[in-house]
Amino acid sequence: MTITPPTIVTGPRSNLDVYADDVLLDPWVTYRELRDLGPVAYLDRYHMYAATRHASVSHILRTPEVFPSAEGVMMNDEMNKVLRGNTLCSDGADHDASRSIVVRPLTPKALRPLEQQIRDEARALVDRVVANGSFDAVTQLAHHLPVTIVSNLVGLPEEGRERMLVWASEMFNCFGPMNERTRASFTVLGEMMHYATTQAVPGKLKPGSWAEAIHDAAAQGKVAPEKCPVMMIDYMGPSLDTTIFAITSAVWLFARNPDQWDLVREDPRLVPSAINEVLRMEAPIQDFSRYVAVDHEIDGVLLPAGSRVITYYGAANRDERHYPDPDRFDVRRNPTDHLGFGAGPHACVGMNLARLEMKALFEALAAKVTRFHVDAEERALHNILRGFTRLDVSVDVSA
Ligand code: HEM
Repeated sequence: MTITPPTIVTGPRSNLDVYADDVLLDPWVTYRELRDLGPVAYLDRYHMYAATRHASVSHILRTPEVFPSAEGVMMNDEMNKVLRGNTLCSDGADHDASRSIVVRPLTPKALRPLEQQIRDEARALVDRVVANGSFDAVTQLAHHLPVTIVSNLVGLPEEGRERMLVWASEMFNCFGPMNERTRASFTVLGEMMHYATTQAVPGKLKPGSWAEAIHDAAAQGKVAPEKCPVMMIDYMGPSLDTTIFAITSAVWLFARNPDQWDLVREDPRLVPSAINEVLRMEAPIQDFSRYVAVDHEIDGVLLPAGSRVITYYGAANRDERHYPDPDRFDVRRNPTDHLGFGAGPHACVGMNLARLEMKALFEALAAKVTRFHVDAEERALHNILRGFTRLDVSVDVSA
């Protein structure tokens, strides 16, 4: 379904450029201006509506009959075509069929046998990096669990595993509106799709892996075989970068808010609540979109049928209408209704795994590290993802 501007725009509109470099790096003031305009506002530059309030984003995500995903959840037509039919971009019975396969290794019960391994890996990793006194929290800390454990479970052939991080990041850039960043990333996306079709196939995948289970399900008639390559993207896309960005943002927030780190160290039972607060403050995925299937009003503002609305999880999570003092990092807040993992039928299937990795890591850090100090930082300039490409930290350790 092409992204075509509606013939008549009623309601608030804005000329703000959410995808300008400086806004991507620091979007909070822009998000607030958009929230203040109304429940949704039309973005003149992108010919799409922006939902930035918690209530609007939550409503859109939970109303798939009006806002289906099968027309794509990206912000350009090309990408919406590429991923057509994967779990993220399907509805109803099709979505149920593929989601039930993709979620199988990711339920709390299925993950239980991995818990001890992840905890042991996290402890050993923290011992290693802390012994150095300083490290890059991206490559030396956050990469480890997703890259060594998760990519192995996905089960791609070896040369694919090495490329997964690059592919995932470039793929998410392609989710954005058709700007230079999106265009540049399409080349790498082609490589990823070619790999998913030619290499991520039975015989080449690790026996017993998650990717192989998708092909097994197709062989049993549970999903159409031609869906297997796009379903590979359900794992190849979101399983690594998102968690890596979340872990790194957590370290950055704890460095900037030492009093909050003290609270976690004093009572490590606060770790799950702190993880929710990190995902609220610094949602690793800032925005996806939805097609508008029928005319629909949100708080008196019309979204016309055929238009597209961008759902800003990152802005909704900082909505002062929903969270008091939303820019304050408060590990005791426990915002269980944050939208960092989405909501409704497409809520993240990997959230239990991401939480497990983060919990293991921050419990291990809480036992050793008394202070994080940021020595150097470099934010990722990315259409969709929020996090760091580099975060040099030094640490003080407990005696
Ligand atoms: C901190 C880490 C993560 C974050 C912040 C995150 C975020 C999200 C969000 C916001 C959505 C909702 C998309 C929508 O509204 O349409 C989503 C869906 C999804 N995520 Fe995650 N994710 C994370 C980790 C993972 C992991 C580790 C995996 C896989 C192992 C994964 C696999 C998926 C899949 C397959 C979907 C699509 C679900 C569906 O459409 O039914 N995610 N994720």
